[in-house]
Amino acid sequence: MTTPSQSAVTDKPFNQETLISANNISANAKTHKLLLINGVNLNLLGKREPEIYGHTTLADIEKNLVARAAKYGIELICIQSNHEGKLVDEIQHYGLLAESAAQVDAIIINPAAFTHTSVAIRDALSATQKPFIEVHLSNVHARESFRQHSYFSDIAVGVICGLGHLGYQMALDYWLTHTYDMKLDS
Ligand code: DQA
Repeated sequence: MTTPSQSAVTDKPFNQETLISANNISANAKTHKLLLINGVNLNLLGKREPEIYGHTTLADIEKNLVARAAKYGIELICIQSNHEGKLVDEIQHYGLLAESAAQVDAIIINPAAFTHTSVAIRDALSATQKPFIEVHLSNVHARESFRQHSYFSDIAVGVICGLGHLGYQMALDYWLTHTYDMKLDS
């Protein structure tokens, strides 16, 4: 795990909530880990309908976000799967089942087509009680009507769509500033 750099973290006095005991971490202590989840077919980014989803590959998106998070002392864990159950397993693990120190503080998710179908992934996110931002590369509201319903938006902290891969960075920046009180350079 990346150790948070002292300089990047706002100097806040220790209080009860941030005290870490020998074996556990208090429920409100930050783990400095975020989770990026990409759903079905997003492994094809760069090749898949670039006029809609852009030319940037998922590997490039993940590499840039991991580096940006690391600059502020935050570990970004990246997951992509074409399988709904696999995403449920990962959300359960990083959001609830792993030991407290291995859990994430918040989530960025582009569920892709699962956005419009998956009660199971929605329920997994609800179960974790971890805040999440829903991201879509395309403007789903300007497309087919079946894309205009999301099983996630009403329980998301926010929804970003139509801004291409920059939407992911905006979501990351939101967590950096709101979860960790980081002052961002650029
Ligand atoms: C998407 C929009 C979804 O409707 C679609 O099924 C995707 C990608 C987006 O990022 O624009 O696969 O989530």
